[in-house]
Amino acid sequence: MTSLSKTSTQQIRSDFLEFFRSKGHTIVPSAPLVPGNDPTLLFTNSGMVQFKDVFLGAEKRSYVRAADVQRCLRAGGKHNDLDSVGYTARHHTFFEMLGNWSFGDYFKKEAIEWAWELLTGVWKLPAERLLVTVYHTDDEAYALWHDLIGIPPERIVRIGDNKGAPYASDNFWQMADTGPCGPCTEIFYDHGAHIAGGPPGSPDEDGDRFIEIWNLVFMQFDRQADGTLVPLPAPCVDTGMGLERLAAILQHVHTNYEIDLFQALIAKAAELTGTADTENKSLRVIADHIRACAFLIVDGVLPSNEGRGYVLRRIIRRALRHGWMLGVRQPFFHKMVATLSALMGDAYPELPAAQALVVRALQAEEERFAETLDSGMRIFDEVAARAGAAGTIPGADAFRLYDTYGFPVDLTADIARERGLSVDMAGFEAAMEQQRETARAAGKFAGGATLPADLVAQLSPTGFLGYDHLDAGGLQVVAILKDGRPVDAISEGDEATVLLDRTPFYAESGGQVGDTGQLVEQGVEFEVGDTQKLAGQFHGHVGRLAKGALKLGDHVLASVDGGRRAATILNHSATHLLHAALREVLGTHVQQKGSLVAPDRLRFDFSHFQPLTAAELAEIERRVNAQIRANHAAEVHHMGMQEALDFGAMALFGEKYGENVRVLKMGDYSTELCGGTHVGRTGDIGLFKIVAEGGVSAGVRRLEALTGQGALDYVAAAEQRLQDAAAVLGGNAGDVVDKVRALAERQKKLERELEALRAKAASGATADLAGSAQEVNGVKVLAARLEGFDAKALRDAVDRLKQQLGDAVVVLAGASGGKAALVAGVSGGAAGRVKAGELLAHVASQIGGKGGGRPDLAQGGGEDGPALATALQGVRDWVAERLN
Ligand code: ALA
Repeated sequence: MTSLSKTSTQQIRSDFLEFFRSKGHTIVPSAPLVPGNDPTLLFTNSGMVQFKDVFLGAEKRSYVRAADVQRCLRAGGKHNDLDSVGYTARHHTFFEMLGNWSFGDYFKKEAIEWAWELLTGVWKLPAERLLVTVYHTDDEAYALWHDLIGIPPERIVRIGDNKGAPYASDNFWQMADTGPCGPCTEIFYDHGAHIAGGPPGSPDEDGDRFIEIWNLVFMQFDRQADGTLVPLPAPCVDTGMGLERLAAILQHVHTNYEIDLFQALIAKAAELTGTADTENKSLRVIADHIRACAFLIVDGVLPSNEGRGYVLRRIIRRALRHGWMLGVRQPFFHKMVATLSALMGDAYPELPAAQALVVRALQAEEERFAETLDSGMRIFDEVAARAGAAGTIPGADAFRLYDTYGFPVDLTADIARERGLSVDMAGFEAAMEQQRETARAAGKFAGGATLPADLVAQLSPTGFLGYDHLDAGGLQVVAILKDGRPVDAISEGDEATVLLDRTPFYAESGGQVGDTGQLVEQGVEFEVGDTQKLAGQFHGHVGRLAKGALKLGDHVLASVDGGRRAATILNHSATHLLHAALREVLGTHVQQKGSLVAPDRLRFDFSHFQPLTAAELAEIERRVNAQIRANHAAEVHHMGMQEALDFGAMALFGEKYGENVRVLKMGDYSTELCGGTHVGRTGDIGLFKIVAEGGVSAGVRRLEALTGQGALDYVAAAEQRLQDAAAVLGGNAGDVVDKVRALAERQKKLERELEALRAKAASGATADLAGSAQEVNGVKVLAARLEGFDAKALRDAVDRLKQQLGDAVVVLAGASGGKAALVAGVSGGAAGRVKAGELLAHVASQIGGKGGGRPDLAQGGGEDGPALATALQGVRDWVAERLN
């Protein structure tokens, strides 16, 4: 009997980090799930992703030993475990990898020694339950396990190239087809003979008995595209241990879903879905998926129809469908976030920090899918019934479910699998392609300037001179388009698009507006009102021939409107600084969703859920202005795409970039891929001022800002308004606030006084009125007009008069602005004989109005005209008739 200590996942994380800290390692935070600047890799799928460049020698860090707990995702893309989640004991979309690294520092001996010490010394795993594998030629690792650690030969397994090619082995780890790689040694835990499965290297190694828990990779090579292995600058160590598997062992449970962390998530999912059976597979799926979804949103991904956003959408919708299977018909998934945050927030503080955003993003997606999930499931049932037992869902139906009901095809496949059906994937793809074709065809008629294909083939791309020049002469007219068709010449007054062989005019792209200006030659002037990019590589000068005639082959002098361009570049450079500041202040979930860089302002759309607070706006503005004052040179570098990413350039995911890119770097603050025109130094921007903040759509905010003279004018105008206000108040700008505050207080005081006086005057007025009541058969009858009284004041007056007069019938009319409000009251002995409602209706009818109410109190209104006096006079007789 062995005894293991129960250890929480929280405790395991900190034990691991503490252990390696004591061995001189620097503790590094987990990198985001979206790899920084690497559009080639969909998600961080192992601990070493953030250290790739350090292995290759392309990046230096201040430490040579590191340890961390890295959040990883294997969903979508090459590593995809999504389909297995819920069906197996150990597959997850999201998991945590414990890792320690040596960058050219220690190597095999320490890596092996420390791994053993931690497992058997700290966590007290029984040595006899551990097996190891080594790469078949790695005698050094074998000797270390055997001689230094003392593992008997029957528990050290040599694994060769078992994947059909040299170095293709379970014990030769490589990050990808190219990049860092090397032999590895793996440590396995034997769950016991009662579980099926054989040791590594045996035919039934895939069983659940022997589970790999830790992989120690000895990084030695950089694998080239042609398969050759180039030695790394220095041998390194990369290790990875799955936290969930280790926790299962330390907590004496067999599946990962039984560990503390998952039990808590499953309990919450059971509560939210009202599920009694906590073994239910759907609860496992929900518990797994909430981790992936929450952290993806934390790391800047929002549900969408492409790229990473679509992977997120697929995971969310899969979780929602499992909720639906449990009978849930209301949004529930977002309610898991608080529990997750409580469980994992200590280890990943970015989760609680973004909690509100995560909840809103999930809830929005739940509400969206709720609209179609129910009907989609009905359609699925119909289609499945047609397919029959063990049949196939036709591609066209899978496409309809996708296109109309928002069912990702893997979701449809998942449901099909549960019912023993399959999906015709090829048919689905064909239907998708058909839709793309239709969309492309429609796009052809979308309008806008297009360039005929033969011209595109015949012309060379426009040479852009505008990074360095605003004017250039001797430029040749190579094409002219009039009404969208190529022509040889245009004459005065014609509107056209002119193409030159080279141009200083910037064509609209990357958010920056196109230049304006003039093309001139002797006796000829073409006014350029805009410059558009045609077929991706030609600058079309769009405008009007103001003077003379222009034909193909002519040579012109092109002059950009310099003032307009100068103002535009300030806004473009400021946009880059703003982007960097937003990511600093709000978080790295901020991603550019659109931008407009014009001469008079900049507009920037980005992913973020809440409106920005005044404090956040002020902080962003402060940081951008600090970078402006730092007066960094705006450096332009040309390099290959990969080089640019290695250089740390921010690329927009999903954007298409060419082989060679232009990188704009301002200090260490902002590095972005950009083809736009920019300042020489950040100081040129002068001043940055945010002038508007708002929402564009769910999860997307918009900022508008000014720079340079525009910002100064804005501030000056605000100051002028302040001074004007001060002048009105008879003070100066410095004491405006005090003066306004004093004024507001005085106003309030006066209003209170006025109110008191009004009340007094009203009671005085009614006291006088009481005296003018006429007696009819023992009842006091009073009908009067009160200037400026509204309905409420009239009711109060009627109440007072009823008290003063005892047995009474009172009608009061309050006149203001051509209208008359009426209130009638009956009290004491008159009650029962005279009805206030009838009286009021009688009076109102005479002044073109109406009204009614209870027998003792009624109200209404009508026109204030000569008829009112007559109507009031008639009250006495009307009452007298009823009292007789
Ligand atoms: N990079 C190694 C792995 O992911 C440790 O298994």
